[in-house]
Amino acid sequence: MLRVPFSSVSPLLKVLAGQTASPPPIWLMRQAGRYLPEYRQVRSKVSSFLDLCRTPDLAAEVTLQPLRRFAFDAAIVFSDILIVPYALGQKVEFVDGEGPKLEPVRDAKSVAALEGSSAVKALAPVYETIEHVIAELPKSVALIGFCGAPWTVATYMVEGGGSKDQAEARLLAYRQPDTFQRLVDLLVDVSANHLVSQAKAGASVLQIFDSWAGSLPEDEFERWCTNPTKKLVGQVKAILPTIPIIGFPRGAGLLAERYARETGIDAIGCDTSMPVGWMQRLQVHLPVQGNLDPLLLVAGGEALDIRVGALLETLGQQPFIFNLGHGILPETPLEHVSRLVNLVKAGAA
Ligand code: CP3
Repeated sequence: MLRVPFSSVSPLLKVLAGQTASPPPIWLMRQAGRYLPEYRQVRSKVSSFLDLCRTPDLAAEVTLQPLRRFAFDAAIVFSDILIVPYALGQKVEFVDGEGPKLEPVRDAKSVAALEGSSAVKALAPVYETIEHVIAELPKSVALIGFCGAPWTVATYMVEGGGSKDQAEARLLAYRQPDTFQRLVDLLVDVSANHLVSQAKAGASVLQIFDSWAGSLPEDEFERWCTNPTKKLVGQVKAILPTIPIIGFPRGAGLLAERYARETGIDAIGCDTSMPVGWMQRLQVHLPVQGNLDPLLLVAGGEALDIRVGALLETLGQQPFIFNLGHGILPETPLEHVSRLVNLVKAGAA
């Protein structure tokens, strides 16, 4: 049988297939974005962030920008998790300096008014972006497609934006569980379609961002994070059984293990608060990704070198993907990013 050496194809795919890569692959959440001057330059050419996401040649350009500077092992398609509510017909705006603003969906009527059937058409620019990126990306660099997890996207839809504690969404889930379930079910279906379409366009890895997984108590975590994610993964895998999926249940803490076991994901993204010993425990079952503090990358210096060395030493002997524990911050100095990549590629601090 002809064996393709994984490592010459993509170290990230190798790790996602359960093998150990030395050095481990590295990419950074939100690696395309405001810390890059060339991103800010492209961003200044369009009036809104959503326009940038919906203009495939510009979105492809900013997807590739970090790869031109740093030897990352993956690109992540430039888009946003809130493109899905937009595609469902909800009013979504990104106000400079304030973050996303949505017209809140808080009752059965507004949930029923969301348009699942036309969503795929509205999401088409994302697939076109992927086709542009694939044409330019070396084979050794994986392309990651993504969506927000149903719970996290629902929180933005119900709150009408970001919030401290996701109280409105949690209240709606307690007071009108049937209505909230319909919203989550709709998000499962549309997100599954969206992930499959991204993979068909050329994404070789998928990630599900559950940024607000940590705000739910145990039973609600099972109902609104684990179960919908399991359905989402199941729907994608029914069509594409071999596509690797990374789940990122930020803040899940002790519940991460059950999430990893029950959802069917292939690797788990760990946030900054996850103790490295727990990551090692998870690593017995599946590859882990994370979890350098984004603020430590801002700070740099010896503290950064030491922590990078420690992560490589404790996690690098098993399937491990080097990443931050959350998105890169806009104030991150470029030299710190190149230093990080060099340290990881050198295999030690
Ligand atoms: O490089 C990449 O990772 C790809 C692109 C990407 C963006 N957002 C671009 C973006 C990805 C993967 C996301 C995911 C995303 N978006 C999440 C999940 C990850 C997380 O951070 O928890 C969430 C919750 C969102 C929603 C969102 N988008 C918020 C809350 C904001 C405003 C806050 C902020 O960082 O400005 C955005 C805007 C956004 N998404 C920007 C970028 C580059 C900045 C907007 C701009 O440049 O004008």
